[in-house]
Amino acid sequence: MEWFVRAFIKASLAWLAAGVTLGVAMALVPQWIIVRPAHMHMNLLGFVAMMIFGVAYHLIPRFTGHELHSRRLAAIHWWLANVGLALLALGFLLVPVLGFRPIALLGVGGTLAALGAYCFAYNLWRTIDGRAELRAAERAAMERMQSERAGRLPMMSSRGTAG
Ligand code: HEM
Ligand code: HEM
Repeated sequence: MEWFVRAFIKASLAWLAAGVTLGVAMALVPQWIIVRPAHMHMNLLGFVAMMIFGVAYHLIPRFTGHELHSRRLAAIHWWLANVGLALLALGFLLVPVLGFRPIALLGVGGTLAALGAYCFAYNLWRTIDGRAELRAAERAAMERMQSERAGRLPMMSSRGTAG
């Protein structure tokens, strides 16, 4: 298992633990429902999305038979996703303390998390397509097989009619 697959799954579990803890706090102290966006994004962008990122980085190359397009981009994604979500969640959590929405913090956190998601989309898109030279080789092998098969068919049918 690649280190970033393990790191995404572990981050997902850590965000789940933090997210449900905040959920219990909100359930117990109704005034805390003001931090609901932090709870939601810890659980949805943290637990759900990071579990999907980790599992997808492991499975998509195996499903397609193509190597992951860029391991470096997957590592960059891990940092963007986690630093981004930490800043976004902190921004939502600071609303009741500051008495206003810290737009810059939310904006920076949100932008980093979104950049990470773009890296993920691009990396898996290119992985699904595979490398251009491999695609060309696959096509050439397929054409060779088809023409060999077409060349053999008349012989097989003439042998068939000859008994
Ligand atoms: C022990 C686990 C959890 C507890 C105690 C908990 C508790 C809460 C509470 C108290 C609220 C606020 C409800 C309100 O506005 O009155 C809430 C909202 C929410 N929770 Fe959780 N939660 C838990 C787990 C999760 C998980 C695992 C997810 C997602 C995977 C999640 C997603 C959400 C969402 C999306 C909302 C907002 C719902 C809305 O705005 O209508 N929660 N949760
Ligand atoms: C870069 C990633 C993301 C950013 C920057 C972002 C930002 C936001 C912001 C600023 C809000 C409004 C919060 C408020 O009411 O104060 C919001 C709401 C919400 N987001 Fe996200 N979000 C992101 C990703 C996601 C993802 C991946 C999910 C689900 C898988 C999600 C689910 C929701 C939900 C359910 C709401 C509440 C909508 C409502 O209250 O009607 N978000 N998001």
